Amino acid sequence: MTSQKPPEKIRHAHEKAVEARSRAHAPYSKFKVGAALLTGSGRVFQGCNIENASYGGAVCAERVAILKSVSEGDLTFTDIVVVTDTPDPAFPCAFCLQVMAEFFEPETKIWIADLERIHGVHEFQKLLPHPFGPRQLGDAKKG
Ligand code: THU
Repeated sequence: MTSQKPPEKIRHAHEKAVEARSRAHAPYSKFKVGAALLTGSGRVFQGCNIENASYGGAVCAERVAILKSVSEGDLTFTDIVVVTDTPDPAFPCAFCLQVMAEFFEPETKIWIADLERIHGVHEFQKLLPHPFGPRQLGDAKKG
């Protein structure tokens, strides 16, 4: 948990995540999520969840932000702020953690927040200590 005030860049990212959440397309679950992803180059990519009438087509806010950034050629990430409007703000789902594993450093910080404030911060490696990655593919016995 964060006992100290988060740095200015994170407070700014929190505002961006709240703003992104307001654009969530969540007519089915009614559960809106916002994300703000900070890159090593200093950019902030916003994401919101985007659902679909074919339910499996839904994409989480975190993955929207990551895919936007990667598609723009920005592949290094320092922090992500995730905002939900719940008393106990939500952590990224396992699917998002797997996508994060592809690009995040073990030390990349995940800030968990509601609309008002940041509740906690966790290193990526704490949330997914044993990620499946390219090393496992390389180690696999072929044939
Ligand atoms: N959702 C996210 O955007 N991020 C998560 O980490 C978990 C869930 C979205 C997906 C769906 O639109 C809604 O929340 C309910 O699952």
